[in-house]
Amino acid sequence: MPETIALAQNPYVRAFKKLRVSKLFEERPEFRKLRRKNTFWKEITEAMAIRERIRDFLIKNPDAVVIDACSGKGFLTTLIALMHPKTRVISVDIDTNAERSHLNFLKNVRFVNADIMSEDFEKLVKEAGEKVVLVGSHLCRELSERFARITNTCKNVKLGVLMPCCEGDFPRERYQFLIDELGVYEAWCYYLKDLFSPELRVKMKRDKKVISPKNILITAERT
Ligand SMILES: C[S@@+](CC[C@H](N)C(=O)[O-])C[C@H]1O[C@@H](n2cnc3c(N)ncnc32)[C@H](O)[C@@H]1O
Repeated sequence: MPETIALAQNPYVRAFKKLRVSKLFEERPEFRKLRRKNTFWKEITEAMAIRERIRDFLIKNPDAVVIDACSGKGFLTTLIALMHPKTRVISVDIDTNAERSHLNFLKNVRFVNADIMSEDFEKLVKEAGEKVVLVGSHLCRELSERFARITNTCKNVKLGVLMPCCEGDFPRERYQFLIDELGVYEAWCYYLKDLFSPELRVKMKRDKKVISPKNILITAERT
């Protein structure tokens, strides 16, 4: 199928286009600049996939705080903040150079420059509020492992949604049969899933609506 038709038929793209907030990405210069990137629609599908998994929780708990770990330029942060204006979103990244001026237009967003591997980040999560939703889009290697461990340790994280990226060091021999059968990325995701505490309800699913081969999502819910 030609790429443009596939894009037009993608359910996340279609759902996004129906949203009132999608108009802002055309009309408001501060958000329109995000559209200039040729990865815009891929990023929309990634952000929509994560947001779909936190939607019900945020509708029931608008006072929850969302923490977008390794937020990059804050695409996911922006979508969540626009769609849940009563919810506070903390966008965290180690890099201060990315262009994030659009975040200044979102009253419910705060950018924090932090290393998620640090104790400061754990403190930030623990002190963020009684109900925290931790999200991470395309976290590579040890960043995904850290995501799982923070979700386990910080009991105020009620929901975590992780879309892992490149694999790091993991006990491949233990996952060899999955590597052979499914591939390294899939086995890496199974390994990450196993890192989450048994006290959490953990689900893992490939979402083919996300325009990326790295489209497995792990959802961990503290009930
Ligand atoms: C692959 S990008 C993902 C960005 C964004 N989440 C997305 O999906 O487009 C990885 C991001 O992680 C950030 N990062 C890398 N190491 C980090 C660390 N130790 N703590 C916080 N952020 C980190 C990078 O600066 C970069 O913005």
